[in-house]
Formats: sequence, structure tokens, C-alpha cells
Amino acid sequence: MSTDFSNSSSSTRKKVTTHLFRLKKHRREPISMLTAYDYPTASTIDKAGIDCILVGDSLGMVVLGYENTLPVTMEDMLHHCKAVARGAHYALLVGDMPFMSYQISVIEAVRNAGRFLQEAGMDAVKLEGGRSRLDAVRAIVDTGIPVMGHIGLTPQSVHQLGGFRAQAREHEAAQQMIEDAMLLEQAGCFSLVLEAVPARLAELISNRLKIPTIGIGAGSGCDGQVLVTHDLLGLFDRFTPKFARKYKNIYDEMRLAFEAYKSDVERGVFPAQEHSIEMPDDEWQALLALIGEAK
Ligand code: KIV
Repeated sequence: MSTDFSNSSSSTRKKVTTHLFRLKKHRREPISMLTAYDYPTASTIDKAGIDCILVGDSLGMVVLGYENTLPVTMEDMLHHCKAVARGAHYALLVGDMPFMSYQISVIEAVRNAGRFLQEAGMDAVKLEGGRSRLDAVRAIVDTGIPVMGHIGLTPQSVHQLGGFRAQAREHEAAQQMIEDAMLLEQAGCFSLVLEAVPARLAELISNRLKIPTIGIGAGSGCDGQVLVTHDLLGLFDRFTPKFARKYKNIYDEMRLAFEAYKSDVERGVFPAQEHSIEMPDDEWQALLALIGEAK
């Protein structure tokens, strides 16, 4: 039996588009999405047949070691998006617009969104926020750039939200969220991330929208799921969100590998013969003669 789960034979596999996102929702086929920030991770995720790769501004926390996502800049994002684009050829590539790249003016929002496609090889952008972001969404979409929305726990507003906490658990906030979702759809978003919201609210929103919802901590009623890859791999040591499933503990595996390497170096058992480069005997003798060390 084949062990290729990727449905990705390169002769038949097609690039994932925003159109396929819609089609998948229509056919009730769940959409898979993961984050990546570098070439090898993007390449592996792409080979596994994941539909969409998000170069998330979670980069700031899981790769750059910041407390939150606020310090991440456009230049950070573009640098990592370029690496991801070199590694992934089939997944839909979404670049996350960092804090202050789309809030100041619609013109800046459009200009910065354009850089993700023009300079960094992305297919679409994502930005956070509901009704207050409609002008930016409309203007970016009018430019021909697909936009993924993001509501619920929006990490760029962490200080306003009072921490990384679940959203819309009260009925007024839940109603606002339903309205925000509808408004973002009307403004032209091709899909919508719902983060840390009650499962039944996420399902209701998903049923009301024509565009697919992608949930993270939003239950199984969404049209797709996204995880931060470092959470899935157990590669981020500070914490794992309650809603993430840790499929591996790579952090511990890496530490064990580094300790084994240190021990091998210290005991003189690495490098071994097979890791060393040979020099032909005649060349060696010639060298010794040349430098006056021939016996
Ligand atoms: O930055 C990110 O990784 C995200 C996902 C959590 C959706 O926005």
C-alpha cells in the first residue's frame, strides 16, 4: 500500500488557488493550513500536500523570540516570505501583514500588501480586524490582491484584548463577531481566520458565510484548520496553546541530538573515518617532500 498521504504526484498536482478554497467549501472538503517561516519547513509542508501555507507574524514569537507579534516589521516578513516561496510550489501562500503595515492609511496598506506579492512571491495577504479594517480590505482587493481576514483573538491587539484569551463568549460580543464576519465577506475577503472563539459560534459563522472559515482554537465546525507549525511540532519551548495538538516533541529531540554531538566531540568519536576527506598517498608524499618533512 502506498504511504504517500500527500495526494501530490507532481504530474497531476495543481497549485492551490483562492478559487479552490471556495470549491472546497462548496464540496465540504476541509482545508488544511500551517505556518512556515523558512525554506525547509515550507518545502516539507508543501510535499505533505497541505493546502495553504501562512507566513504568520507568529514568526516574531516562535522564531525571533519576541514576547508578542508587535515588533515584527515588513522587512522581517518579506525576508521570511521569500524563503518560504523558494520552498513551496503548490500550496497557496499567504503573507501576514505585520502590525502598523495596514493601520495607518489605506494607501500604505495597499502598498505594503503589494510588496508581499511583488517582492516576496506570496499569493495573498492576511490582516487582522473586523469592521475597522473594511476600507483597507476593499482597497487591497480592488488592487487584485486576495485578502484573508482574521477575527476573534487578534494577537496584534493583545494589549487591547487584555492578553491572549478566548473571544466572544458573551452574546453581544458574539453578535458583533457575526456582523464583522459578514462585513469582511462583503468587503471581498476570500476566506477568514477565526481564532480562539467558541466552537458553536465559529460553526454558525461558517454556515452563514459563502467564503471558507479557517479555525484555530475554534472547533471542528470551521471549513478548515490552521496551526502554528512550531506548536504542532513541539518546537516552541515557552508554551503550547490549549487548542493546539502536539504531534511531536522536536524541541526535546533537538536537545538530545545536540547533547549527543557535544559528547561525541568531547570523546573524540566525531568526526569518524567516514566523515573525513582522504588525500592520495602520492600527493601526501609529494607535499612532505615539498615542505621538508619527508622521512
Ligand atoms: O501569525 C499567525 O501564525 C497567525 C495564525 C495563528 C492564524 O495569524
